[in-house]
Amino acid sequence: MAELLLKHSDAAAFLLTVVTLTSSFAALGSDSFSQNISPLSLGLNKPEKLSHLHFYFHDIVVGKNATAVRVAQAPTTTAASPFGVVVVLDDPLTVGPDIGSELVGKAQGIYAFASQTDSSLLVAYNFAFMAEEYNGSSLTILGRNTVSSAVREMPVVGGSGTFRFARGYVEARTESFDLKTGNTVVEYNVYVLHY
Ligand SMILES: *[C@@H]1O[C@H](CO)[C@@H](O)[C@H](O)[C@H]1NC(C)=O
Ligand SMILES: *[C@@H]1O[C@H](CO)[C@@H](O)[C@H](O)[C@H]1NC(C)=O
Repeated sequence: MAELLLKHSDAAAFLLTVVTLTSSFAALGSDSFSQNISPLSLGLNKPEKLSHLHFYFHDIVVGKNATAVRVAQAPTTTAASPFGVVVVLDDPLTVGPDIGSELVGKAQGIYAFASQTDSSLLVAYNFAFMAEEYNGSSLTILGRNTVSSAVREMPVVGGSGTFRFARGYVEARTESFDLKTGNTVVEYNVYVLHY
């Protein structure tokens, strides 16, 4: 009985999808700006998936292979923090802590020192993935990174491709920090809901 019900509801969902797709395509006129459509028309009748991604972020700030460049700073700054510094990055993301390990994507975006009393950052990154079924998909991270904390949590505010309608959070932990150069390797665990 349960099986039968399931089959019926599957068939009903399929029919509804077909009907919705047909009617939403039919309703799209060149002079129409907005309309309400069914979530089914974008495949949102599937249960959300929870994915866990794990990789290492390499912030290389000096040398000819630098991947993070300082583009602005305040004319004056307090001694307590580099308040006002803005950095643009295109940092490699690798599967292991060694920069020679498999490249799974790039972190592209900006971080800015946004506290006058410590080194808290405002971060705005896109993780542009290149590996497996995530190739070409991206996640957008926007949040506060208190770099001196052992674990920093930042929100995943959206995504593209596989990650359409994404929401979740990341946990960042410093894996290594080179006192001489300032180069940093950060371990990322990403927990993301998507369809
Ligand atoms: C820069 O990258 C090249 C190619 O990967 C490498 O041979 C070279 O040692 C790197 N230079 C520095 C300063 O890390
Ligand atoms: C990722 O996609 C690009 C563009 O479609 C392609 O050139 C590249 O080979 C793909 N990489 C992997 C690892 O599948």
